[in-house]
Amino acid sequence: MAEKFDPRHASKLENPERLVELPPAGLVQLLRLTGAETVIDFGAGTGMYSLPIAEALPGGTLFAVDEQQVLLDRLRHKLSETRPGGRVEPLLNVDDHVPLPDGAGDRILMINVLHHIHDEPAALAEVTRLLAPGGLLVLAEFARMDRPVGPPNDHVLALDELHAVIAGMGLRELAAYEPGEIGLYHVAIVAEKPGA
Ligand SMILES: C[S@@+](CC[C@H](N)C(=O)[O-])C[C@H]1O[C@@H](n2cnc3c(N)ncnc32)[C@H](O)[C@@H]1O
Repeated sequence: MAEKFDPRHASKLENPERLVELPPAGLVQLLRLTGAETVIDFGAGTGMYSLPIAEALPGGTLFAVDEQQVLLDRLRHKLSETRPGGRVEPLLNVDDHVPLPDGAGDRILMINVLHHIHDEPAALAEVTRLLAPGGLLVLAEFARMDRPVGPPNDHVLALDELHAVIAGMGLRELAAYEPGEIGLYHVAIVAEKPGA
């Protein structure tokens, strides 16, 4: 099974350089937001991307979902000091059940999460359940390449493995982006849930 994220590394998630290497503006573009959507940041961690993405949702909601309460507590603390543009709700995923109805997410965002859950069918099924028919999944993962940051290459997925995981989730891939397009060291994929 893929390695779990170690919450002792939570402060690494807060490194502001990350927002330069993978700018939220590019992700907002891929998410095709009008501002009123419900977005689920699945594996949100401390909400490093949840907060900037919520700025693009003045009339929407961002659910920041994680399986580690300690990380969501850090996000709650930040929310007590900052008021983002849109509503942000931290939500705990307990044993691959997120307390939201089927199709609750118009969009789902996963940043550096898929390599933790790619071999966990229940977690992947929960992501598919949460995505509305016709909704978009946007994911960004560290690419297999020489890079100064991120996990070792044998901990991240090759592009063909990413394509296979997306297909296995029953999603239709719309676009894939190489490092240098959306993020310096990331690949990004946009996929749609059929059935709208
Ligand atoms: C590398 S961190 C990325 C956090 C955040 N997306 C970011 O970019 O700052 C991976 C996150 O995925 C979360 N995670 C892993 N498996 C999960 C699952 N089944 N459900 C919810 N969160 C999960 C971990 O707890 C961790 O916060």
